[in-house]
Amino acid sequence: MQNFEFYGPTRVVFGKDTIKELSRLIPKDRKILMTYGGGSIKKNGVYDQVKKALEGFDVLEFGGIEPNPKYETLAKAVEIVKKEGVNFLLAVGGGSVLDGTKFIALASKYDGDDAYDAILVRGELPNSAVELADVITLPATGSEMNNGGVISRLATKEKLAFHSPYVFPKFSIIDPSVTFSLPVKQTINGIVDTFVHTMEFNCTYDVNSPLQDIWAMGILRTLISEAPKVLANPSDYGARANLFWCATCGLNYWISCGVPQDWSTHMIGHELTAFYGIDHGQSLAIVQPRLLRNQKVAKAFKLAKIAREVFKVNESVDLKAADIAIDKIEEFYNSIGMKTKLADYGINSLEAAEKIRARFSERNTVLGENGTINADVAYEIVKAC
Ligand code: NZQ
Ligand code: ZN
Repeated sequence: MQNFEFYGPTRVVFGKDTIKELSRLIPKDRKILMTYGGGSIKKNGVYDQVKKALEGFDVLEFGGIEPNPKYETLAKAVEIVKKEGVNFLLAVGGGSVLDGTKFIALASKYDGDDAYDAILVRGELPNSAVELADVITLPATGSEMNNGGVISRLATKEKLAFHSPYVFPKFSIIDPSVTFSLPVKQTINGIVDTFVHTMEFNCTYDVNSPLQDIWAMGILRTLISEAPKVLANPSDYGARANLFWCATCGLNYWISCGVPQDWSTHMIGHELTAFYGIDHGQSLAIVQPRLLRNQKVAKAFKLAKIAREVFKVNESVDLKAADIAIDKIEEFYNSIGMKTKLADYGINSLEAAEKIRARFSERNTVLGENGTINADVAYEIVKAC
């Protein structure tokens, strides 16, 4: 196992009827900015539950944070935080609202003109952030228990990630029953996102980490067993709860302790979203099978383990088992209704491959646990999508 340092300061409050705990968890003297998205929380009763729990608190609101949150929108919230002296941010929504709020928290401590350029492009992060917490409503990103965020900029068609120890949520309220209202597409996106997070952390090369491997395989197996249940019955609380906990544990860094990682499916997927606007989960389902195929030899040991321990494949030759694992993963995505080809989304693979090669060349991007995915390899992967 490799050396590691783990830090996870977020309090998780999980279960039915937990939104009311807000009044206990937020100090009474805080000036709160409640952030949310396009209105789902007003339709499914979450907004009312939050407002009720915050009766007597000093609360401002900022709605309209879009999926793949945009800097152009978030900059307006930063102005409010600075002008009104907000000292607590409460994100109520999916990963996009939470990521956007993490950015607002950091950018509010930045004094220059262009916080996107500083934080996302140049990586010059402020040494503090406004305190933040969340009521997370979509199981996917794990943002509720991690220190990352992904922000898009309309003007430049960019989508970039940042990490800061100051944006771990102070607490996250996870009530799985708020996910009954998710559109099927978002449920599926979340399942695929969680599956891919787990693989990005685990599917590299072996460093003798059986506990982390078993945790990761446990997440993959749980996703496979619970996905059909929520699709058949969207109000199945037990299955919704299991999916949410998988999503949280898929990206709260437990499974990444002491193991090499590979975030190349995400990095290529972010470009597809930036150029073509497809959902994050969709972008991953398209890229991952082709990327795994391209990197099969380097990843054969872990892929074979996934074939045998997740998909119960009886094949003793690693390379053959690896091939089967990749097929099974794509079959699983298709079985839950996720399309896995660029053409399914009306995107020309050659054009996409060329755009991504040009961008990666310009940035000198090199990806993969062994640093083998450069602009030309990314081109081959996307062309095959
Ligand atoms: O905007 P509203 O009206 O709230 O509707 C949202 C949105 O349209 C809706 N929704 C959310 N919860 C709902 C609901 N609808 C009904 N009932 C509910 N309970 O779902 C739509 C999608 O929401 P969004 O927040 O965009 O989805 P998700 O949570 O998948 O977040 C995606 C974003 O997170 C980033 C992605 O790149 C993307 O920008 N990621 C963040 C990560 C992190 N912070 O660690 C890691 C991930 O790999 C990912 O990159
Ligand atoms: Zn993701």
